[in-house]
Amino acid sequence: LRIDKFISNTGFGSRKEVKSLLKAGAVKINDITVKSPQTHVDIEKDVVTLYGEEIIYREYIYLMMNKPPGVISATEDKYDETVIDLLDEEFQHFEPFPVGRLDKDTEGLLLLTNDGQLSHKLLSPKKKVPKKYFVRINTLMTNEMVTEVQKGIELDDGYLTMPGDLEILESGNEGFITIMEGKFHQIKRMFIALGSKVTYLKRVEMAGLKLDENLELGEYRELTEDELEYIRTT
Ligand code: URA
Repeated sequence: LRIDKFISNTGFGSRKEVKSLLKAGAVKINDITVKSPQTHVDIEKDVVTLYGEEIIYREYIYLMMNKPPGVISATEDKYDETVIDLLDEEFQHFEPFPVGRLDKDTEGLLLLTNDGQLSHKLLSPKKKVPKKYFVRINTLMTNEMVTEVQKGIELDDGYLTMPGDLEILESGNEGFITIMEGKFHQIKRMFIALGSKVTYLKRVEMAGLKLDENLELGEYRELTEDELEYIRTT
């Protein structure tokens, strides 16, 4: 891999910025200063330093965000702020995108990555990746609703949802709902089909990964090695 690509991939600036770092003599490969952007690096063996600090190579980033309401799950939007706008430049540089979508008014767990393969796997309906939400509706939840969710619910466009799970909480109008797919506005439409309306929705789990309770709305962090290993192998 070319040294300029190596450095920009790890988040230390655009290729142009990297060029000036090289020019300035800030970069060393195995203790030898390199100035040519075309110099090749062996990712496995070479030690690259920037101003004396070792750069650990990486191509992909994996973030967990507690998505706030009012923000769009997309990389770009004409009118509204997007989840990408909430990221520091150091992460934006990797060009991450959200793994699936949450509605503008929905909160909670959103994964962001630039790893297309993992994203594809997590979103594939065939993989039946469970997504768990805390949901509040404008009526009491009933045992009939629980049964209907388990059976699958016919949405307004005739689509029959895969079997899901609904657990009613003590308040009576709140619960946890788990679905294995992600049709447009799915949970809201499921409750409309059941004669109610969702008034609050927050994703709390995806692919067995729990939303970090320490993340305030709008905050994010990188996945831990264990979390990444977990979603890679499930
Ligand atoms: N279902 C919805 O209706 N909205 C979401 O954001 C996610 C699931």
